[in-house]
Amino acid sequence: MGANQLKKINEGRRAVLTSGMATAAGILMPGVDATAAGVPLSPADARELAAPPAMGVAMTVNGQQVSLQVDTRTTLLDTLREHLKLTGSKKGCDHGQCGACTVLVNGRRINSCLTLAVMHDGDAVTTIEGLGSPDQLHPMQAAFIKHDGFQCGYCTPGQVCSAVGTLDEIKRGVPSHASADLSATQGATADEIRERMSGNICRCGAYSNILEAIQEVAGVQA
Ligand code: FES
Ligand code: FES
Repeated sequence: MGANQLKKINEGRRAVLTSGMATAAGILMPGVDATAAGVPLSPADARELAAPPAMGVAMTVNGQQVSLQVDTRTTLLDTLREHLKLTGSKKGCDHGQCGACTVLVNGRRINSCLTLAVMHDGDAVTTIEGLGSPDQLHPMQAAFIKHDGFQCGYCTPGQVCSAVGTLDEIKRGVPSHASADLSATQGATADEIRERMSGNICRCGAYSNILEAIQEVAGVQA
């Protein structure tokens, strides 16, 4: 093979590699114009690539019907806080580790930072704002105030929602890790409540007062 032929083959390879890398960059890197990289996009394709994936979701939130379009990647917590301006539910860790974002969905407590809004189409969501109002507190809210179950208050909306869910679980006979007999009816003992509330972290350390508040609502002598 002559030197000229070799030179031509190498130039051809380089051109193929360069165009391949440009195409990949155009497709994979946000903000890079694929057309500038030599890949023509139709206006419809360009619009589809640019738009975030959105979906409609309808839920009942604190007794009110709401319908909204959300990016499918939006968590329930962000939907409540950013779209519906219900900022009572707090973002502590955003990783399911602190419980500050606890809300009730169809009566059961969940970490709203760990679930997507679009997974709750048709569900009933209750946040701290829907449990009670300043004029008409939920018994759990009143008990937290009476027993001084908070200091800074950041964890409190999640603690209160979780406490309401906890007592409902005990009432329904759902066992916990602390239950000695899985088929027996559990009482709202200190051990049961501590175990069930262990996913709700309080950096101020108001745990003993929170326990007293929950036991008072459960009708148990602390
Ligand atoms: Fe959801 Fe911490 S913010 S568990
Ligand atoms: Fe401050 Fe619980 S009251 S984190």
